[in-house]
Amino acid sequence: MQLTVKDLTKRYKTGDGVSNINLEVEKGELVTLLGPSGCGKTTVLRSIGGFLEPDSGDILIEGRSVIKLPPEKRPTSMVFQSYNLWSHMSVYDNLAFGLKIRKRSKDQIREAVTDVLKLVRLPGFEKKYPAELSGGQQQRVALARSLLLNPAVLLLDEPFSALDAKLRHEMREELREIQMKTGLTMVFVTHDQEEALSLSDRIVVMNNGNIEQIAQPQEIYDEPETLYVASFIGKMNFLKGVADGGHIQIRRGINFPNHKQLTGNVIAAFRPEDIELREMADSEGLLTGKIKQIMILGHYAEVTIELDDLGILRSFQTKEIAQDLSIGKDVGVHVTKVTGYPVNETYIGG
Ligand SMILES: Nc1ncnc2c1ncn2[C@@H]1O[C@H](COP(=O)(O)OP(=O)(O)OP(=O)(O)O)[C@@H](O)[C@H]1O
Ligand SMILES: [Mg+2]
Repeated sequence: MQLTVKDLTKRYKTGDGVSNINLEVEKGELVTLLGPSGCGKTTVLRSIGGFLEPDSGDILIEGRSVIKLPPEKRPTSMVFQSYNLWSHMSVYDNLAFGLKIRKRSKDQIREAVTDVLKLVRLPGFEKKYPAELSGGQQQRVALARSLLLNPAVLLLDEPFSALDAKLRHEMREELREIQMKTGLTMVFVTHDQEEALSLSDRIVVMNNGNIEQIAQPQEIYDEPETLYVASFIGKMNFLKGVADGGHIQIRRGINFPNHKQLTGNVIAAFRPEDIELREMADSEGLLTGKIKQIMILGHYAEVTIELDDLGILRSFQTKEIAQDLSIGKDVGVHVTKVTGYPVNETYIGG
């Protein structure tokens, strides 16, 4: 294992922080810590990098505990949200600095800097100063500086959050490419679920100082383990029900399957794409309601249904299906995939 975080706990004086964080990252893997502001992502990352002293637990890199080492002795390198470039130094000197400290020869440094600037798509930028670069270019230089140190684990704390949407998108793709070319192991922090889903080999979903789920992006989306993950990732519909035996009863005569064998009060969750609309004549045993809104979104449509006294559902329909619908039409709602969650779990609303 390239990185192991073992029972990490860090509580600040205020009582905030993280508890019992356990995480294993394989060599060459890109793992994302995802969660809302304040959930503890930076706390975990800084503990790995050595900028914070945890209350308990251990951090192992390539099998060796680094918990007693200061940041500069750890085989890690961190890219921050703010680029932290030295403004009075050229791009070349910013990049060469770490290598000079490591006593590399002039030729070695020149070659490494040229190569890494190619890698981050800034060839020939050696003589520029940070103030002459755009935000995205500065962030690439910051990334290049970390790459040059060839860390065993590269730590990135919301490195693209200051960039506009388009540039952020590009940087994501570039980082993915760099990771594939270099085989570097990365721990990436973001509160942007789209960024996490598109970038990661695995995602660690955090909530309130704890880990809710660790899994591949598709699995996080398809099989959210907790109600929190279900509500945090993607769009989801929620209905209250009562579970008993093989069924979750939403109301008399309307049941969903109870795969998890839950009992008592539950929340039934289903994605907009898992809703099929039926004619009223075929709505026996289904939820029923009226089409409230139809939004054409290019190749698909978001169709909102106002249920008879159970609130609003959001569904995604193909544009062909949406063409045959009209606002106010009565429909039956067939749900093809439902997951139940006990109601006592934390639920932030969807
Ligand atoms: N130095 C500190 N002293 C006291 N509390 C802190 C300190 N640093 C962070 N916290 C608190 O610990 C919790 C976790 O903070 P952390 O910075 O790890 O969150 P985060 O997930 O990185 O959030 P964000 O997305 O906003 O960066 C928060 O409630 C925060 O207020
Ligand atoms: Mg943070």
